[in-house]
Amino acid sequence: MPHGDQDEGRDAGRHVSVLPKEVPALLVPPGRTPRRILDCTLGAGGHAKALLELAGTDARLVGMDADESNVILARRTLASHRGRVRLFHANFADAREVLREAGWDHCDALLADLGFASNQVDDPRRGLSFQQSGPLDMRLDRHSPRTAADIVNQVGEKDLADLIYTFGEERYSRRIARAIVSARRAGRIERTTDLAEIVGRALPAPVRRTRRGIHPAARTFQALRIAVNNELENLDALLELLPDALCPGGRAAIISFHSLEDRRVKRCFAALEKIEKATVLTKKPITPSRAELASNPRSRSAKLRGIEIR
Ligand SMILES: C[S@@+](CC[C@H](N)C(=O)[O-])C[C@H]1O[C@@H](n2cnc3c(N)ncnc32)[C@H](O)[C@@H]1O
Repeated sequence: MPHGDQDEGRDAGRHVSVLPKEVPALLVPPGRTPRRILDCTLGAGGHAKALLELAGTDARLVGMDADESNVILARRTLASHRGRVRLFHANFADAREVLREAGWDHCDALLADLGFASNQVDDPRRGLSFQQSGPLDMRLDRHSPRTAADIVNQVGEKDLADLIYTFGEERYSRRIARAIVSARRAGRIERTTDLAEIVGRALPAPVRRTRRGIHPAARTFQALRIAVNNELENLDALLELLPDALCPGGRAAIISFHSLEDRRVKRCFAALEKIEKATVLTKKPITPSRAELASNPRSRSAKLRGIEIR
């Protein structure tokens, strides 16, 4: 099919799957082919496609994404496997309902590749990037009611500082919250770049200089994103249903991108192993190779952990 301008535009934010060999190797080990694969975070459908191809023609995949536009994107990627997939617009906190809807009691392999896809981060209209001017939105699911602008403009100073501290692990959270509250007295803060500037100015100059390579607003943006999308609560809900959702011998792979997520995954897996419900497959998390880091710098903070249910 010829590639017109439209296709090129679409490819500009094309998501490159992280750990593209490691994920299938973990979920489809030699000699054991999962027949029911659950992809909790379809994104562009790259992992889903690789899993289906490695698992062979007996495997079926049920997938979901909280972002409706990525369900559409994944459907396109998986077009050649149409008869073997069912895709849903759903939050993985509701994975049990999705399984039920698909007519499955359990699955044999489950993947959650957390966070955002490149097409979302690169679209200024989503408000996820402090480098591009866009509305302070940050919602994964555009049907959900609260945007980042609502938090930035409505939450009181102390709660805002706590939120930035807890979800952003930002030690200058109080200064930042004070600066935000002071700036919004002059009018609502609506744009990503305005917020980034306010945060940057709130940090002491030496700190701004020493945060080499990391944007001064990165932690604040992370905190808002987590809050807007209830990211940690959703992850907890998913982790809680793992032992039930997977059949004995079933495997789960979770890729996290920051320490708040990874800590939760690590603790949950260790707790399941302790009560002899599961075996941890990755004593240390699997991280991208040098070659992957060079070709896909966005993979740099990815950590993959795996577990097998007993
Ligand atoms: C890193 S991307 C996944 C990329 C995918 N594995 C691939 O190979 O193309 C993460 C995706 O998860 C979705 N997502 C994040 N949190 C979610 C949640 N709680 N429920 C469902 N989808 C979620 C995002 O909308 C995004 O499309």
